[in-house]
Amino acid sequence: MSDGWDVSAKAWIASQGADGDFSRKHVLDAPMLARVHAASPNALLDLGCGEGRFSRKLAPHIDRVVGIDPTEALIAQANAQGGAEYQIASAENLPFANQSFDMTVSYLSLIDIPDIPTALQECHRVLRSGGRLLVANLNPWTTASQAHGYPEMKPDGTTTLIMDRYLDCFPSWAEWSGIRIQNWHRPLSFYMQAMLSAGFQLVHFDEPRAIGGARSETYNRAPYLHLMEWQRL
Ligand SMILES: C[S@@+](CC[C@H](N)C(=O)[O-])C[C@H]1O[C@@H](n2cnc3c(N)ncnc32)[C@H](O)[C@@H]1O
Repeated sequence: MSDGWDVSAKAWIASQGADGDFSRKHVLDAPMLARVHAASPNALLDLGCGEGRFSRKLAPHIDRVVGIDPTEALIAQANAQGGAEYQIASAENLPFANQSFDMTVSYLSLIDIPDIPTALQECHRVLRSGGRLLVANLNPWTTASQAHGYPEMKPDGTTTLIMDRYLDCFPSWAEWSGIRIQNWHRPLSFYMQAMLSAGFQLVHFDEPRAIGGARSETYNRAPYLHLMEWQRL
């Protein structure tokens, strides 16, 4: 069964615009860019690059930036805008030689990848020893609440999350702004243990605050994003 990305590609591209949506523009772009620049890679792979916005942002500063994504319509849009190299491929089957990259980035794509252990094995294989895997991900308590709606700030200033089946792994459908896609809920322990088993060591973890933007106050009360950087052993 389709995960909905092909049908949703047009609405997704419109939702991102040139600067990305709220999560990207006001929460993640600044710390993600800072981590990439600190690592100063010569060759970087963007896993699940979508329509290529983050790859394009990185390309002027790095010798080789490659974005992969299995959604043909998104790679077509990325190629139309240029900036970096793009290929249709899944994270579980990377068309690259061993140790070809200094850094891989997964910018809000882990929850969309069906087979995380295989994707992480592949990521480990294409990274050089000591290379970095930089991840921005949706908090698992948010994905466990997805079916029941996201938290909203009530008039008294409190927020509530209706969560279910936190410790299970299961697919669920998310729908917003004309986009309807299937992604995965997995508990935080699943991601951490999968990274450790694949041969990565955690070197950085953050829960960045939103800066600016009308939704920042609500977001900062019940944040739904985290960032982590792992080193390939
Ligand atoms: C939420 S979007 C993020 C796109 C981009 N990284 C960004 O931040 O705008 C998730 C992306 O994961 C891609 N995806 C789905 N399955 C995948 C897989 N098996 N391997 C790699 N990417 C996948 C989707 O096509 C989609 O482009």
